[in-house]
Amino acid sequence: MRNLLIAGNWKMNQNNAETKAYFEGLSEIISEAPAGVELLLCPVYTSLAVAVETASSITGMHIGAQNLHFEDKGAYTGEITASMLSEIGVSHVLIGHSERRQYFNETDGTVNLKTKKALDANLVPVVCVGELLDERKSDTHFSVVKKQVTEGLKDVSLSNASKVVIAYEPVWAIGTGETASPDQAQEMHKFIRTELSKLYNEETADKIRILYGGSMNTGNAAELLSCSDVDGGLIGGASLKPESYAEIIDAAAKQANS
Ligand code: 13P
Repeated sequence: MRNLLIAGNWKMNQNNAETKAYFEGLSEIISEAPAGVELLLCPVYTSLAVAVETASSITGMHIGAQNLHFEDKGAYTGEITASMLSEIGVSHVLIGHSERRQYFNETDGTVNLKTKKALDANLVPVVCVGELLDERKSDTHFSVVKKQVTEGLKDVSLSNASKVVIAYEPVWAIGTGETASPDQAQEMHKFIRTELSKLYNEETADKIRILYGGSMNTGNAAELLSCSDVDGGLIGGASLKPESYAEIIDAAAKQANS
């Protein structure tokens, strides 16, 4: 079955020195990813190289970027290409995080271009989707997420689809301390998997990891990870300290071996 993926999104936190100290601290707690669990941390661009270097002391730890540009090179001041990331040992990339959609005008169209570019460069795209509070209140959350998934994965081939990771992050649960209940998470994850099976087929949909994100922490991770269609977490605040990240990894290890 699917390995759990316990991913941390550090957002605009942790400089080089802090990143190095983090991995030194984490490697004192864990030396390898537990069976059935994969690990991923996504620092800022300037900390990626030091993260790749220092994370190598933890077997099964992957490093991801938080964004990329969909062009191969050119006059795009401030942007980074997929190949620049893979060149330094980055293996994953977050795409379309709600903060990028909200503050940097990311659309389903740019998410789609970036997803395809990541796959071309052999990076694993972690495609973020999720509804706003108003959309949940007005009961449009399923159609919103369906559009994000369908347009985000448009023209992604069947052979590439199983490499994609989806992160369901209800925007109302990000950084608010409010979490989707396990029932709400499972309901949406199952919905997404059903949509993926319509876009591709059941076998492929069964291979695609769907992570939950939004105030996942040491107190709620075990319950969320016990949902059958929740294949891991994309964790913001609680991934910033090695101790709490390691505790969530521990919850995932128990789930993977249950
Ligand atoms: P928090 O875990 O801080 O709510 O952030 C979630 C998130 O946005 C991860 O990408």
